[in-house]
Amino acid sequence: MNYLENKTALVTGASSGIGYEIVKYISKFNMKIIVTARRENNLNQLKKEVENNSNSEVIILVKDLATPESPQEIYDFCLSNNLQVDFLVNNAGYGFTSDFDTYDLNKLDDFMNVLLNSLVKLTRLFLKDMKERKSGKILQVSSIAGIIPSGSGAIGIYGNIKNFINEFTITLNSTYKKFNIDICALCPGFTETGFNERAGFNMQYSDVPSPFLMSAKDVAIQGVNACLSGKEIFVVKGGFNRTMIFISKFIPNKILRLAFGKLVDSGK
Ligand SMILES: NC(=O)c1ccc[n+]([C@@H]2O[C@H](COP(=O)([O-])OP(=O)(O)OC[C@H]3O[C@@H](n4cnc5c(N)ncnc54)[C@H](OP(=O)(O)O)[C@@H]3O)[C@@H](O)[C@H]2O)c1
Repeated sequence: MNYLENKTALVTGASSGIGYEIVKYISKFNMKIIVTARRENNLNQLKKEVENNSNSEVIILVKDLATPESPQEIYDFCLSNNLQVDFLVNNAGYGFTSDFDTYDLNKLDDFMNVLLNSLVKLTRLFLKDMKERKSGKILQVSSIAGIIPSGSGAIGIYGNIKNFINEFTITLNSTYKKFNIDICALCPGFTETGFNERAGFNMQYSDVPSPFLMSAKDVAIQGVNACLSGKEIFVVKGGFNRTMIFISKFIPNKILRLAFGKLVDSGK
């Protein structure tokens, strides 16, 4: 039987893109799925879609992860509603295109809270209970930007955080595998979602050559399956992602950073 069958999942950033598709994919396992994000309308639409097409139940919790208290509030909500989270998906995130030196400090706080701090805090909170139960799975949505040096501007800093998420995953696995907990860092490349618009890229997905672009659905399916099979760092198959990582090993980092920097600038 699949590990997820009749269990409970928590998915952050479930209102669009990869998170939305992860919820749809895991709904075939007859689960309780707590979905969180800020856009309540999208979460309602997801609930309707899932509950009309599966035996899973969707529980909506609207939260802004830029608020430092949100991870604890999400944990407390689960506790007070007797929801024992067996599968945690830390997916919420976004990039930005402004120059780092002029990026508004409040916006920087929000960015760090959503992309990094909430992931670390939610992992800490739910991992403790998983350790006690000696069972759990955590999927951290990272990026190939955490593997390939990705420019010196904003997207480079985004890549630095994703690189931390990959290393964090390795560190936690080295301690918690023995408690039957699997943590997987999912590394997608270009994926067609709301990401570009939120980051402020002018570049349209239609400008990206189609062999490089993946669908959120394919990324979601591969990511969940990789986590279930105990993979640690999983680079999504397709979209030339693995080829790009292979080639990048033979190109000096300085040149890669320059090339990615130029690519990002051209998309602004
Ligand atoms: N698309 C790509 O090419 C790509 C490649 C590699 C990795 N990734 C990673 O994939 C993950 C999902 O992104 P996506 O591509 O699916 O983009 P997306 O469609 O824009 O989804 C981002 C999700 O994060 C949520 N989110 C953003 N700010 C939030 C906040 N302040 N509080 C709570 N939730 C917030 C959004 O919900 P609300 O706006 O409703 O709050 C949304 O559900 C991210 O971690 C991203 O870094 C994406």
